Amino acid sequence: MINNIESIHQKPLTNSNEKNLILTQNKNANAAIEENLTISENYAVDMKPKTQHFYDFPKYYDKAFTRDVISDINFFQKCFQLYSDIAVKRVMEPACGPGMFLEALPKFGYIALGYDLNPAMVEYSKERLRKCGISNMESDAVVGNMKDMIFETKYDAAFVCINSLGYLRNDEDIISHFKATGESIKKGGIYIVEISCKCDDIKNEKKYDDTWYVKENGLEIELTWAINWYDIENRIRHVDFQMVVEENGQKFVVQEAHELRLWIYDEFKKLAQAGGFELMAVYNQSYDFVPPNTSITGELGALFFVLKNVKNS
Ligand SMILES: C[S@@+](CC[C@H](N)C(=O)[O-])C[C@H]1O[C@@H](n2cnc3c(N)ncnc32)[C@H](O)[C@@H]1O
Repeated sequence: MINNIESIHQKPLTNSNEKNLILTQNKNANAAIEENLTISENYAVDMKPKTQHFYDFPKYYDKAFTRDVISDINFFQKCFQLYSDIAVKRVMEPACGPGMFLEALPKFGYIALGYDLNPAMVEYSKERLRKCGISNMESDAVVGNMKDMIFETKYDAAFVCINSLGYLRNDEDIISHFKATGESIKKGGIYIVEISCKCDDIKNEKKYDDTWYVKENGLEIELTWAINWYDIENRIRHVDFQMVVEENGQKFVVQEAHELRLWIYDEFKKLAQAGGFELMAVYNQSYDFVPPNTSITGELGALFFVLKNVKNS
């Protein structure tokens, strides 16, 4: 049983020194070291938060962030029919992670390509496709950075899920991403972006599933993804993340801070426009249309923004 770790940040962290102090002061984390657990890499020594280390473990991400990709793809298809000016066959996925969508898309007749900054995610995706007997002509993954990844052969549509776009934090990088994606998909093609906007009240950031568990043969994972504070001035959403893995008698902990763009609806729309995309529609997690006069904030949960490429020639 995993029972010796609990949420470690009780208050906002203001700078990296303070972060380290809080982490090293944490009695549960220290207890873990004393119990001679295997603590992953640097964390055993100095417990410094290290952004995105979690993504070096695609297998655990895959199990912990599993989602109903079939329903998502059915929804994407509906969007293609409603909003795309072109027929969709070739689909591109920035920040594809462990390739959940890349496996499912060929079943719907699409040719897919995903890219991710993390080579471990890309290798895991490729292996997943190999195991499913999907050829790299049908679906594949490559290493790439959302900031400026451009494909010469254009795609018909693209999508990015679970707030991955938030890893681009400043306006310049986000506009650069939209421009690069606009170069990579055909004019009139759509780009579906799933993000969560800033809540009017941070207390409304989803709390009930901050900590969750995965248990299966010989594996237990406890995960905490806690949004405890906003840096509104710099448009940063701070996430305190912890993963405790116990597998085949080995146990290790990853603790890190993730800093993501704090999305504000009007700003997101302007950034997309500056990169050559026009907002066509917004949908919620039930795939219901969100009427244009709605106040769009994080209180609505993660939303799908359907953008159309209006600039590409
Ligand atoms: C929350 S995971 C999402 C994975 C996948 N989109 C999904 O729906 O499960 C975020 C992913 O973004 C990737 N990522 C972070 N920054 C990136 C960047 N600048 N360019 C490309 N991928 C990036 C990470 O490596 C990680 O795989």
